[in-house]
Amino acid sequence: MKFFAVLALCVVGAIAAPLSADQAATVQSTWASVRFNEVDILAAVFAAYPDIQARFPQFAGKDLASLKDSAAFATHAGRIVGFISELIALVGNESNAPAVNTLIGQLAASHKGRGIAPAQFNEFRTALVAYLQANVAWNAAVESAWTAGLDNIFGLLFAQL
Ligand code: HEM
Ligand SMILES: *[C@@H]1O[C@H](CO)[C@@H](O)[C@H](O)[C@H]1NC(C)=O
Repeated sequence: MKFFAVLALCVVGAIAAPLSADQAATVQSTWASVRFNEVDILAAVFAAYPDIQARFPQFAGKDLASLKDSAAFATHAGRIVGFISELIALVGNESNAPAVNTLIGQLAASHKGRGIAPAQFNEFRTALVAYLQANVAWNAAVESAWTAGLDNIFGLLFAQL
């Protein structure tokens, strides 16, 4: 019982820790420098984790280099990366918490229905962070701002998956 109470507190704690104004600005400005590289970002995720690519019926088993040039890939990349942009636009303002919850709730519901497990979302996170490290001006402050933001988002997501 105690264990679950502590666990529940941790989950709530993870959700309830908003980013500072500085952290939010850092996440938003670094994201602004790559947010339109949608195809590049999704391709980096698939390259790092072919098991994620394999879950997309349209893309499973196909050669990534040629997929990258297809309209279908661009459309999907736009949806997924665009979703991240929607979330990032909302961070740093507590009044946006309900909107963030709604978006994460939709993501959790649609992906739960597809049987996507937390482990695969963690892979996505790792690949996204690696992409950022390689493509934005990265330093310890940038890293801790992104860690805080992603911890919040993944905390909310995993509570609903
Ligand atoms: C981590 C592993 C993930 C897997 C395996 C996965 C898988 C999928 C699949 C199979 C679809 C349906 C594609 C289709 O219609 O043919 C989809 C749709 C979508 N995914 Fe993911 N996804 C993952 C992570 C994410 C993440 C991290 C985001 C956003 C941050 C995201 C956002 C979306 C969006 C916006 C759609 C389109 C709307 C919808 O159908 O829900 N996905 N995903
Ligand atoms: C925070 O969000 C609310 C509701 O969307 C908006 O009215 C307000 O202007 C925002 N505040 C800042 C500082 O952006």
